[in-house]
Amino acid sequence: MTAHNRNLVAILGGSTAVYLALAVMMGVLPGIWLSGTPPGPGVAPLTAEQAAGRAVYVSEGCAYCHTQQVRPLATDSGFGRPSAPGDFAYQTPQLLGSERTGPDLTNIGNRQPGTVWQFMHLYQPRSVVPQSIMPAFPWLFEVVDQPPQGESAVPVPKPFAPAQGVIVPGARARALVAYLLALKQPAWPLPAAISTAPGASPPGAAPAGFDAAAGARLFTSHCAVCHGAEGAGVPGVFPSLAGDPVVNAADPAEQIRTVLHGRAGKTINGATYAGAMPPFADQISDQQIADIIDHERSSWGNHAPLVTAADVAAQRAQP
Ligand code: HEC
Ligand code: HEC
Repeated sequence: MTAHNRNLVAILGGSTAVYLALAVMMGVLPGIWLSGTPPGPGVAPLTAEQAAGRAVYVSEGCAYCHTQQVRPLATDSGFGRPSAPGDFAYQTPQLLGSERTGPDLTNIGNRQPGTVWQFMHLYQPRSVVPQSIMPAFPWLFEVVDQPPQGESAVPVPKPFAPAQGVIVPGARARALVAYLLALKQPAWPLPAAISTAPGASPPGAAPAGFDAAAGARLFTSHCAVCHGAEGAGVPGVFPSLAGDPVVNAADPAEQIRTVLHGRAGKTINGATYAGAMPPFADQISDQQIADIIDHERSSWGNHAPLVTAADVAAQRAQP
């Protein structure tokens, strides 16, 4: 072997060895260590349908725009509590994602638990979020003359509905929504410094009175997906809150109870609504609920007496 060849072998062999060592150290070993992470408290394995939905999530490229990791940063606090290794015990390979064109979905099952909303949004995001830039996924749905016995059609508003027939979710859409609704963070004792929702008051300080900025911010993050940024709702699916009798009632009990416990199937101003209102009792504090309600009571032409955190606490204490 000439000296020249020996150098070549040393360079190629040496760099290959360094590359392999780094690949094992940075790629393979962490995978082996992390795959042994035990599930966190309350973290459950996916059902067969949810696992099929996860495969749809991967094949439709949802992870290109959506993360499933909440960082311990103030900017992430609206998405849920910070993620922990045990959260991912049954979700390997993890779909952490690196691009957040749309919101993080780690806790979407808690943040947006409405099946009807999820179907409408997947069929055509603009039908529930007018400014949405998310692509529509109509091929996950079927157009039929009549919904099959015992099933209901997806109540897509007129401009987005097909000229003929109605829309029903296909098996892949049903599995995908089952998966999305399974994305729930089990509660976890939080370090005092991290708030769980945007607009949360600092711990300890419970300011009395109406914080208009917090009310508007909380309405946007928790209510606007269904009721619209301007409270106008979606006809036949989510009621408008402008001029709504419950929002303008002098006695706030029913409004507070609706936000605490959710509701469905009520006739509001002569109309019924296909969607359901999710309960918020476990997600936001009394002060936050009071701020949202006061935002509703003083916006979009509504003028009704304001409420306090104590009013919310009083309703929460009732069965
Ligand atoms: C090109 C980027 C893109 C892709 C691909 C994409 N989304 Fe989205 N998604 C968005 C954006 C932007 C929003 C925020 C606007 C909205 O709510 O429609 C969003 C919102 C959402 C929301 C509501 C989140 C919230 O906090 O209210 C869900 C659920 C969702 N997407 C699920 C999916 C699923 C499931 C897929 C795959 C079938 C998918 N997205 C594919 C961009 C995307
Ligand atoms: C997933 C969609 C969804 C979300 C999110 C949502 N709502 Fe609703 N809301 C509804 C639906 C659907 C109804 C009608 C329920 C019925 O038919 O009984 C409703 C009803 C209401 C009513 C009662 C109106 C009446 O006249 O009885 C109020 C008040 C209300 N929502 C406020 C809120 C507030 C405040 C938030 C955020 C904290 C919120 N909603 C979040 C879907 C939603």
